[in-house]
Amino acid sequence: MPDDGSTVAHRIDKDVLSAAMPGLLGDQKSLPPKLFYDDVGCRLFGDITELPEYYLTRTERILLDVIAPAVAALCPRGCALVEYGASDEGKAEFLLRQCDPSGKPVFTDYVPIDVAEAALRQVAWRLRSGRPYLRVHPMAADFLLPVLLPASLAATPRLGFFPGSTIGNLEPGEALRFLRQIHRTLGDGSRLLVGVDLRKDAARLIPAYNDASGVTADFNLNILARLNREAGADFDLSAFSHTAVWNDAESRIEMHLVSTRAQAVRLGAYRITFRVGETIHTENSYKWTVDDFVGLAVQAGWASVQVWTDPEALFSIHLLEIATTTGGAEQVGRAS
Ligand code: AVJ
Repeated sequence: MPDDGSTVAHRIDKDVLSAAMPGLLGDQKSLPPKLFYDDVGCRLFGDITELPEYYLTRTERILLDVIAPAVAALCPRGCALVEYGASDEGKAEFLLRQCDPSGKPVFTDYVPIDVAEAALRQVAWRLRSGRPYLRVHPMAADFLLPVLLPASLAATPRLGFFPGSTIGNLEPGEALRFLRQIHRTLGDGSRLLVGVDLRKDAARLIPAYNDASGVTADFNLNILARLNREAGADFDLSAFSHTAVWNDAESRIEMHLVSTRAQAVRLGAYRITFRVGETIHTENSYKWTVDDFVGLAVQAGWASVQVWTDPEALFSIHLLEIATTTGGAEQVGRAS
């Protein structure tokens, strides 16, 4: 096929291009982590969750299994579960399977919100066939934006669910704004369950983001492959390498793609140049202490109901509720 302008233009996904462009024009080049999650990226992330080095998913699932009955016991029957970033329902299942003492499911509505549309369709399809009573309301959206909940749920009590330490992708200021926004969109009387990876030794963290079998490297590099596929870019994947560094001052793991030579890359109608060793910062993964995260949640208007961690204190799950002006301070004190 002739590579004339019209064929190229036809292949360019304007949304992907405009998500990628601003960060690549900056001084420290960067790309937004949401671009990781095309079909290939979702599959690679699934592989990451099964790596021996990647303790996060495994640990969170063990915790969810233990705490789901206690969380569901606090939720009125006929509750809606609203999940932010729901490319698979694996974690929600721990909650969706909970029943009240009469044996009826606690959650009757499920609102999975995710940018990965294909994955979302599969979630809805599987759940509708596996749990026919459940009303599934998939929302293909960037969960960082204020998503409007379906009008039919106006009077339904809500439990927000933000697992996986996805909140770690956000800088503290963004995390604060996001927690406030969830507070506003879920409304009074709502609760929120958030999975948060904990600050720990760099020797444990770095291999989790730079595994021996190279799956995380493939995941990171796929962001460039995706720009080639969808945004008319011509990145040479063999001229970039994956790296993960621990930034102690900011308490975060950073993933970068290092340009292994001086080069120029085309992106849509633009030309972007790289010095040898120059990096594209593709992801931050903040690691919180329990106390600092409770402090953040309280600042965002939430009260901490309970915090669970595993015996090794690798990972935490926070149950939050909307603070009321009376008795708020006492509720905060209940965090353990
Ligand atoms: C999905 C954002 C929680 O930060 O641990 C995994 C993504 N990046 N390996 C994380 C990720 C590299 C993951 N989150």
